[in-house]
Amino acid sequence: MGLLLRQIAAFGSLTKEVIMIPDLNTARRLLEEGWQRNPGPWKNHSLTAAHCAKTIAERLKMRGNDIDPEKACILGMLHDIGRREGVTWLAHTIDGYDYLMSLGYEKAARICLTHSFPEKDVNTYIGRHDISAEDEQRLVTLLQSFDYDDYDRLIQLCDSIAMPDGPASIIERMTDVKNRYGHYPQSKWDKNLELKRYFEDKMGCQVEEVVGISPL
Ligand SMILES: [Fe+2]
Repeated sequence: MGLLLRQIAAFGSLTKEVIMIPDLNTARRLLEEGWQRNPGPWKNHSLTAAHCAKTIAERLKMRGNDIDPEKACILGMLHDIGRREGVTWLAHTIDGYDYLMSLGYEKAARICLTHSFPEKDVNTYIGRHDISAEDEQRLVTLLQSFDYDDYDRLIQLCDSIAMPDGPASIIERMTDVKNRYGHYPQSKWDKNLELKRYFEDKMGCQVEEVVGISPL
C-alpha cells in the first residue's frame, strides 16, 4: 500500500473510533439531558460508574494494559442512558442502545446492552422483561454477536459497585440489589466476583483501593 493510501486508511480507522463514542463534554450533556427527561438516582449512579471506570482504567494503563481511561469514563457515564425514556427495567438496555445507535455512537450503544449481561444471558436480568418479544430476540441476537472486551467487562464491574452516593463494596451493592428485587442469581453474583478478580489480577491490587472505598 502506498504512503497516501496508508494515511487514508489510518485516518479512516481513527475517524471510526472517534465517532463510535462521544467526547466527554457530549457525554455529560447527554446524561444531563436524559436526567432532565427522567430525573432519578440513575444520574449519580452513572457518574459513580464513570469515576470507577476511569480510576480502574488509569491503574490498568499504568500497569501496561492497552486501555483509555477517558473512553472508560465516557462509557461508564452513558451505560444507563436508556433510563432517559422513563422508569423501566430491561427496556433501559435496548432503549439506550437504540438511542446511542441513532446518534452513531456504536461502541457506547453496545455498552448499554453488555453492562447488564456479564454472562450474555438475558434470563439473568434482575427485574421485569418490559420489552416486546421481538426486541428481546433482537437483544439476545446482539449479545451473542459481541465479543466482549475489557471495556464491556469494566463497565459490568463498575455497574456492580456504583451507588448514587459513591462506590460501594461489590458485596454491599449486590446485597442492595438483592434486597430491592428479592433475589440475585447466584451465577451472576459469582460472575461479578470473577470480574473483580480479573481486574485485580491485572492491576495488582484490590478494586476497593483504586476506587476509594475500604475493603471488607
Ligand atoms: Fe447501571
